[in-house]
Amino acid sequence: MDTRRYVYSIKKIAENEIITKEEYAFRLNEIAKCKRDIIYFANTYFKILTMDKGIVQIKLYKKQEELLKFFKDENRCIVLSARQSGKSSMYTIYLLWLCCFFPEKRAMILANKAATAIEIMSRIQMGYERLPNWLKPRVIVWNKGQIMFANKSEIRGFASSSDAARGFSANVICLDEFAFLPKNIADKLFTSIYPVVSSAKNGKIIIVSTPNGTVENLYYDLWQQANGMNNNEGWKPFEMHWWDVPGRDEKFKESTIASIGERRWAQEFACEFLSDAENRKLIPDDIIEKFKKRIEQYKADNILDGKTVQIVSQNQEKVFNAKVWKPFDQTRTYLASADVAEGTGNDSSVLNIWDVTDLSNIEQVAKFSDNNVSVVEFAFICNKMCEAYANPVFIVENNAVGSGLIDMLRMTYGYSNIVREGNKNNPYGIRSHSSIKPKACMWVRDMFTTAGFDWVIKDYSLIKEMETFVKKETLGKTSNTTYQALQNAHDDQIVTLIWAAYLLQPDLIDRYFVVVETFMSSLGIIYPKTLAPGVEYTNEEISKAQNSRIFREYMNEKILDEIKDENQKEKQATFNKRMLDKDFGMEYFEPAVDRFDKSNVNGGYFIDGDGTWDDFDGPSW
Ligand SMILES: Nc1ncnc2c1ncn2[C@@H]1O[C@H](COP(=O)(O)OP(=O)(O)O)[C@@H](O)[C@H]1O
Ligand SMILES: [Mg+2]
Repeated sequence: MDTRRYVYSIKKIAENEIITKEEYAFRLNEIAKCKRDIIYFANTYFKILTMDKGIVQIKLYKKQEELLKFFKDENRCIVLSARQSGKSSMYTIYLLWLCCFFPEKRAMILANKAATAIEIMSRIQMGYERLPNWLKPRVIVWNKGQIMFANKSEIRGFASSSDAARGFSANVICLDEFAFLPKNIADKLFTSIYPVVSSAKNGKIIIVSTPNGTVENLYYDLWQQANGMNNNEGWKPFEMHWWDVPGRDEKFKESTIASIGERRWAQEFACEFLSDAENRKLIPDDIIEKFKKRIEQYKADNILDGKTVQIVSQNQEKVFNAKVWKPFDQTRTYLASADVAEGTGNDSSVLNIWDVTDLSNIEQVAKFSDNNVSVVEFAFICNKMCEAYANPVFIVENNAVGSGLIDMLRMTYGYSNIVREGNKNNPYGIRSHSSIKPKACMWVRDMFTTAGFDWVIKDYSLIKEMETFVKKETLGKTSNTTYQALQNAHDDQIVTLIWAAYLLQPDLIDRYFVVVETFMSSLGIIYPKTLAPGVEYTNEEISKAQNSRIFREYMNEKILDEIKDENQKEKQATFNKRMLDKDFGMEYFEPAVDRFDKSNVNGGYFIDGDGTWDDFDGPSW
């Protein structure tokens, strides 16, 4: 029987292979069947490499079959799955199947590392090599990052960060362990590839990952979108649990938890999006929780709000509000720390004053924060507030704006108590070069987790910043670990805390304070505990502090608090205000509009019938 005439009509039969008619029919049938049924293809022909048995024919478990179908049928696939559950294997099968049986498919695998992409490509290549010859399309290109078949279908592997990936217009894209891509790369990738794929006919995106936190995580965002109401892009979610993998039972769970811990189990096997990438925060979660709980307590004790005191600007045109929780006490030692912003409404300029007498109870006693204050105004405010605490040691970073502040404090106000942690040319302030900031951050972390130090923080915005102050992604570079605020979050409050803490390190504190008592940590390190109260204050400083407007306002407010009778209260308030105005030689500031009572009318202003100001030319006095 002559079978030769059939030979070349079947794909990739060895040149001189002679087969029977039955065999030919079988092969044709198998090709059709595989093309029709991806599960059959996988379970019959796809080989995998296993740890214990070497290369074996894969037998899909039930959930994997569902996943393969899912990849085949859906075009916006997002998979949440446990570690080592075979999710990567499933899309490799899908891609090989697709490219073998369909022409002109352009598929791309993006993994967070090039090595991973290559490893996944090699699985596809091994799968291909072990297909029966007659099932294979002919190969045109074959290297570790690329396979192209005679049918013009092509698979490529890239590292997600690679620019080459963005130049390749694929119609199928697989993003592996997507949750582990740094936010900026994930975003960039997504904005460049998503439009290409979604505009392609039958363009398909497959995202697979184990979870990795919720903050600044595009994978998390997409997963939420896929499971939510506003799923405009039509994402389809697919969950594969640890128990979906045969052999993973309660015993497996127990022994895994015993070896990797509850937290990693929750994330890597139970697929929980842990509320945040906790490990990245400078201040550990339990400490942040502690501070939050205390805030509740302060609220209950009525000491949370402190007193708002006003600082009238030099030209008396503006009033700034500062918060005072405790006024100056000459038996205490203070430390002031600042962070300067440009004053353009984005970041805030912040000044915090801390009572550092007892390091087991460092107290935030006063705070100023404003995102619309110029450096000149801020210098004025810093001087005013610090004066009210007898000019404590003042620390601020001496970057461009910081140096501006320092110069003004020194030159204009004669403020002498500024730290000298800069360099020869720029001695004042602290020079935050690449190793200082990480060091400061590490010390803060130590301090917050060492028994013996504690902080009283009444400013909730500072505690909130702890939530978003996280380790900086250094993208594989092994540089000093540094910390920063997440995108769109602020760090101006926490930076003042970091610099305040920085000065309290055992090897620095002696330069600025007199340590009268120390303690030994459980690790045998000697830390400072109590600083000499008010050791630096002169009588002049003390009287200046106690006569400062801030101190006086605080005290006045306190007096008012104690008066129950409303009439009496009002009288006292008027009296207080008059005294303050008199003593500070200025008319007490009120917003301009409030001052336009009838007695003040003199030209320039018109009152219409209903007594409202209609035309507003500005005050003429
Ligand atoms: N059905 C299966 N039977 C046997 N081994 C499998 C099966 N599915 C996957 N594997 C193997 O399990 C390991 C993990 O698979 P992989 O796809 O890398 O998982 P994941 O991407 O979820 O971490 C691989 O060695 C793979 O070959
Ligand atoms: Mg994988």
